[in-house]
Amino acid sequence: MFVTFEGGEGVGKSTQIRLLAGALEAHGHAVRITREPGGSAGAEAVRHVILSGAAESYGVRMEALLFAAARSDHVETVIRPALETGSVVLCDRFMDSSRVYQGITGNLPERLIDGLERVAINGLRPDITIILDMPAAEGLARARSRASQSADVASAVPDRFEKEELETHEKRREAFLDIAARDPGRCRIVDASRAVDLIAADVLSAVEAVISERQAGKVTA
Ligand code: TYD
Repeated sequence: MFVTFEGGEGVGKSTQIRLLAGALEAHGHAVRITREPGGSAGAEAVRHVILSGAAESYGVRMEALLFAAARSDHVETVIRPALETGSVVLCDRFMDSSRVYQGITGNLPERLIDGLERVAINGLRPDITIILDMPAAEGLARARSRASQSADVASAVPDRFEKEELETHEKRREAFLDIAARDPGRCRIVDASRAVDLIAADVLSAVEAVISERQAGKVTA
């Protein structure tokens, strides 16, 4: 069972991942939490290059290739092996972030994004993708207040993508909603501007529904 979390800046993905992991573990599931860009040794090295802005001057295409390289390493060395041992894998961002950030707001052709995605995921599609949705201004305000309270110097500085204009963030929100509309079998939109426990309850029931479907499928197969 491979679960990905997507959405704009500051929508609360990491909190929801932590709560979902706790709930699934309480139900006896082994859970592996991971994130992108990063999640494996090779991909974490690439993460630093991208988020520091070191690759920005080489252009969006170069960044998209780096995200794809990082994703490929992450899929083959961490995600696929964890799934093979029966763990539920919860991943903070995955292929839809490349579609939105590099494809839609980076203006790269869909054909290029599709090709990179095919190589990077190598057949490993999420069983379910939770899209945490809230107005971009609200998410950005949260991300910025989190950064200003952080004692960690690295997270107090807006990264390469956080520093972009509100209009760009709003476009990304629309792009995530559009992905969900095109792929309703995989994606669930969850209203993330509510209380944390209400969001967590929706996330858990969406994921449990897919787990039960899978178990029913296995029994009848
Ligand atoms: P991160 O610090 O993990 O932030 P967040 O809490 O928003 O996930 O930074 C990841 C940044 O990288 C984020 O701004 C989105 C961007 N990104 C892409 O542009 N393309 C991708 O494929 C991925 C995975 C992330």
